[in-house]
Amino acid sequence: MKRKERLGVGFIGSGFITRFHIQSWVGVRDADVRGIWSPNAERAEEAAALARTLRVGEARRFASIEEMVAAPEIDCIWICGPNHFRIENMERIVDALDKGATLVGIACEKPLARNAAEARRMVELIEKAGVLHAYLEDQLFSPGLARAREIAWARGAALSGRPYLARAAEEHSGPHRPWFWQGDLQGGGVLNDMMCHSLEVGRHLLTRPGAPRSSIRPVKVSAQIASLKWSRPEYAELLRKSMGPEVDYGERPAEDFARATVSYVDEGGLPLIVEATTSWSFVGAGLRLSMELLGPEYSLSVNSLDGGARVFFSRRLHGAAGEDLIEKQNAEQGLMPIVANEAAEYGYEAENRHFIRCFLDGAPPEEGFHAGLEVTELMMTAYMSAEQERTISWKPAGLERYVPPVARGDWKP
Ligand SMILES: NC(=O)c1ccc[n+]([C@@H]2O[C@H](COP(=O)([O-])OP(=O)(O)OC[C@H]3O[C@@H](n4cnc5c(N)ncnc54)[C@H](O)[C@@H]3O)[C@@H](O)[C@H]2O)c1
Repeated sequence: MKRKERLGVGFIGSGFITRFHIQSWVGVRDADVRGIWSPNAERAEEAAALARTLRVGEARRFASIEEMVAAPEIDCIWICGPNHFRIENMERIVDALDKGATLVGIACEKPLARNAAEARRMVELIEKAGVLHAYLEDQLFSPGLARAREIAWARGAALSGRPYLARAAEEHSGPHRPWFWQGDLQGGGVLNDMMCHSLEVGRHLLTRPGAPRSSIRPVKVSAQIASLKWSRPEYAELLRKSMGPEVDYGERPAEDFARATVSYVDEGGLPLIVEATTSWSFVGAGLRLSMELLGPEYSLSVNSLDGGARVFFSRRLHGAAGEDLIEKQNAEQGLMPIVANEAAEYGYEAENRHFIRCFLDGAPPEEGFHAGLEVTELMMTAYMSAEQERTISWKPAGLERYVPPVARGDWKP
């Protein structure tokens, strides 16, 4: 394994999330963005140019994953391609390693994979690769949440007992690219796309800081999914027009709402609950992340739209629609919240700093591919519960082969 003072990072994919990571890199120490590979050469060049402009690394575009993995300046790979290419991307990295290339670590965006079988395959491949690994769950590293969790545990839990209920929600008005809307490609609808965040935030809030993730244990899962907005004929048509004919929510909808309750027990047998909810049918200023933690004599709450700064634009202004104020922005008029540094506030900056530090120290991060597998298994159990309309005991038989109806293409809302 390579041992270096400073690491070079190569990105697979040059889309939305890669740009967020590159922007976050201004707050990352001891590593530079050195490479981008994506099948879209023009976008890969643009992402490399963004890294150079921000002075976060002398990045260049690579012609293939294999070439990037083998390059001497690349020590780590951040997998940021679409969900349906996860396994292929990972297999190509592992092939390159088999042929003699070396890496220090591999980080993978959420969700680790589309279902439990694929997530298990990702774990097999990383174990074969024998390098350090990270599961990129940015929200755990959101500075407001991290600080509030620290205080709630240090003061509230220390004086009155551990917290028992965590609530987490992620909501916006719908994804930016067609593949997210297609159940077979993405793996599901909003549950697979966004509940991975909320389930892991809930588990993290309820886990004593410093304790292993196994210190709280799932017991049962109850969930519900629905298509509340996007299969209405006028919205299915709007979606078809904006995303293309392959996104047909009249014929093949995916859920745009999901809620799940996961019951856990701690080491002493105390009952704990995570309540997660997500939707692609929330029309507000833009992306809204909300989290709560409740304990015997305390609570915490975080809402990403309550940053403090605001701007106001009167009805006389008629500019172009955009995402210049906030992720998944829905308006250009009225009173709009400002999230001053989205890459930092949503957690990307601290997440990347943390994982780079682990990789430099040769220390396996707590949040590795096995965590990604567990999150995927919880999500698949939630889909099972929604499909069977009953509470499912953890861990259900058949989970390994289970594919949600939305991904199979036979879901009827
Ligand atoms: N942490 C978060 O909050 C968050 C937010 C958005 C997306 N994501 C995750 O990041 C991943 C990418 O999402 P995105 O929003 O950047 O999507 P996107 O559609 O904007 O970009 C995808 C990129 O992958 C490239 N690509 C196409 N085919 C590929 C292939 N065969 N192999 C590798 N890359 C290929 C595309 O050219 C594009 O650059 C997804 O898994 C998504 O779930 C995470």
